[in-house]
Amino acid sequence: MKQKILLLGSGGRECAIAWKLSQSELLDSLYIAPGNAGTAQYGTNVPLSPMDFDAVGKFAADNGITMLVVGNEDPLVAAITDYFKANEALKGVKVIGPSKAGAQLEGSKDFAKGFMARHAIPTAAYLSVTADNIEEGFAFLESQKAPYVLKADGLAAGKGVLIIDSLDEAKSELRQMLGGMFGASSATVVIEQFLSGIECSVFALTDGEHYQLLPVAKDYKRIGEGDKGLNTGGMGTISPNPYYTDDIAKECMEKIFLPTINAMNAEGRTFEGCLYFGLMITPNGPKVIEYNCRFGDPETQVVLPMLDADLYDIFEAIYNH
Ligand code: AMP
Ligand code: GLY
Repeated sequence: MKQKILLLGSGGRECAIAWKLSQSELLDSLYIAPGNAGTAQYGTNVPLSPMDFDAVGKFAADNGITMLVVGNEDPLVAAITDYFKANEALKGVKVIGPSKAGAQLEGSKDFAKGFMARHAIPTAAYLSVTADNIEEGFAFLESQKAPYVLKADGLAAGKGVLIIDSLDEAKSELRQMLGGMFGASSATVVIEQFLSGIECSVFALTDGEHYQLLPVAKDYKRIGEGDKGLNTGGMGTISPNPYYTDDIAKECMEKIFLPTINAMNAEGRTFEGCLYFGLMITPNGPKVIEYNCRFGDPETQVVLPMLDADLYDIFEAIYNH
């Protein structure tokens, strides 16, 4: 059957997904909400907010949508997948993206760190603090070497991570974050040990049992020459990642990818969708610096052009396990 797909989001990532889906022989029509000037080349933009679930659901029901692909994290963390599954009129729509329980890997950095600690998945040492134990936060910062890494617990449009050179400034930023710098998202702050190494972005398309890894990318996030400036939402990206060797791939598989997928199952949070691993390859081996519950932005733009397979077929396989 030819498919009618609704894709949510408006970034370069969604433009790359729309481009790839538009090549599928199984596609009847593609809608993107809200989309952008690029996505309009591959489908029809629809002026809907991905966070307005009633409007998205109504559009899907009225237009016979057969698959919903969720590009951005906000609707996933706010439970759009659960919303579609719970709604009788939308039960036939195949949703590509995890449930709210799965999306917690990105929705709460405190959850993600606790999850990795529970399952011995390698990551940076950390302490989570709130306004109630800020003094413990200061003591943890004092126990670390510069630079200092502060992360808002919740979603902050890719801007909730601060990497700071001076201890005094780190303490002052911690106070400001807990005071609402990123609204409710920074009511809890994760303070992390700084890891040096090479970053790798790996996407696993998974149904919780099987998985397909996509070509590996390297993201560049700091502004300025030589990666010396502040963190940004993203400065550029390349793929393949020349630092991701076969040995590292094997170690990541054994210590990170499979343990994460299996532990999510064990916690009753089976992850169905695109699981993004932000890794730091350190001298002591690969460590997770972040999980995302969707395709990377901007990495998708360099990863999908290298994929020979039909992306719709992979989505279909995730859904029909
Ligand atoms: P995140 O949103 O958690 O990926 O953090 C954004 C960026 O900050 C990452 O891509 C890294 O460049 C950097 N970063 C995050 N955590 C650490 C860490 N513990 N050590 C060094 N750099 C980090
Ligand atoms: N490129 C990192 C992210 O998508 O969050």
